Amino acid sequence: MLLREESVVPALECRGLSKTYGAGRIVLAHLDFTLAPGEFVAIMGDSGVGKSTLLNLVAGLDSADSGDVIIDGSVVSRLDDNAATRLRRQKLGFVFQAFHVLPHLTLAQNVALPLLLNDLPTAAALDMLAAVGLSGRGDDFPRQLSGGELQRVAIARALVHRPKLILADEPTGNLDPDTAHDVLALFRAQSKATGAATIMVTHSEAAAAVADRILILSDGGLHASSRTSAPFGSRSPAASADDVH
Ligand SMILES: Nc1ncnc2c1ncn2[C@@H]1O[C@H](COP(=O)(O)OP(=O)(O)O)[C@@H](O)[C@H]1O
Ligand SMILES: [Mg+2]
Repeated sequence: MLLREESVVPALECRGLSKTYGAGRIVLAHLDFTLAPGEFVAIMGDSGVGKSTLLNLVAGLDSADSGDVIIDGSVVSRLDDNAATRLRRQKLGFVFQAFHVLPHLTLAQNVALPLLLNDLPTAAALDMLAAVGLSGRGDDFPRQLSGGELQRVAIARALVHRPKLILADEPTGNLDPDTAHDVLALFRAQSKATGAATIMVTHSEAAAAVADRILILSDGGLHASSRTSAPFGSRSPAASADDVH
């Protein structure tokens, strides 16, 4: 039987995405990008080049001047506000540098938030916590956790509702290199296990090495890195030697 690759709906497509701030600060210029379901891509680039802007446009936190964001086959700009909000709630997950775990909720309550917002049963929260190595910690509060553990909670929360697409902005930026390595291994494994496609912005070569593909944002567009990412093994020199933040 023939594989019909053209019938696969990308997790994300950006078509001709452009964004200019103020009078003439061109950040994105007709950017095209396609992310396959389950693919894990790292985006690198100089500070101020527009990496967070790109994630914000995909997340709907900012709007493009022109071009389309297509999430799991839906052209977001063609949806009304309610439908766009619903789509993002169901199909997106977020991991931030600063964790953004809510301090007054238990770990289980933090992870259950996307389930509650999507009217899904909350039992999956405890399974997801266990999957990130925090079995039995559901009643703990965030203040009892290390940075690496907080980011595990954030990863569990990002994935618990089985989104199509995870947006991660410098997810290891606040972690020491050893912890970053462990959290990234877990992030990649859990993204793959749940079938989520992932865009991870990072300026760490070691972090980018876990990705299936590395792209560089420059001059308003995404370009293939001259380096291909190495297969992500356990604590290989390439994945741990140069983790800088
Ligand atoms: N809301 C905004 N208003 C004006 N300029 C902005 C805004 N957000 C970002 N910029 C500018 O756009 C450029 C890209 O920013 P950003 O996407 O945050 O870069 P990166 O994440 O790659 O460091 C920077 O020059 C920044 O100053
Ligand atoms: Mg940024």
